[in-house]
Amino acid sequence: MDRETFVKLLNDDLSSEYQSIIQYIQHGATITGPQFLAIGDEIKRHLPQELSHATILAEQISFLGGTPTAEVSTVRSSISPEDALRTDLALESEQLDRYRERVGQAHDLGLADVAEALRPLLEQTQEHVRDLQSALGR
Ligand SMILES: [Fe+2]
Ligand SMILES: [Fe+2]
Repeated sequence: MDRETFVKLLNDDLSSEYQSIIQYIQHGATITGPQFLAIGDEIKRHLPQELSHATILAEQISFLGGTPTAEVSTVRSSISPEDALRTDLALESEQLDRYRERVGQAHDLGLADVAEALRPLLEQTQEHVRDLQSALGR
């Protein structure tokens, strides 16, 4: 893989993080009711981390000579708490796969500093997947 393709993939990751930010705001307001109190709080804690993921990605794209995108991946709105949790879990799982690949690709390209910058995204996404799985009783 060349650097240009890698930057393109980082921009796709960035679009996906923009999607997360919007979904968590919309879903955070959807997930109401006493049985969802804890997970509602959890989701509100994810939101600032998604903001930092988007910021880190934009900085790395710029550092690599690319232009950070302003495109947002298609947002999946939700109408019920269960639907919101399932939708968020699907997105986080997708992002986890993406970041696993991205960290490996950064190493392959000899971009150790970029791989290091992406490490927190990978770790926090792993936590988000676990949070949502346990909220869904999986
Ligand atoms: Fe994220
Ligand atoms: Fe996340």
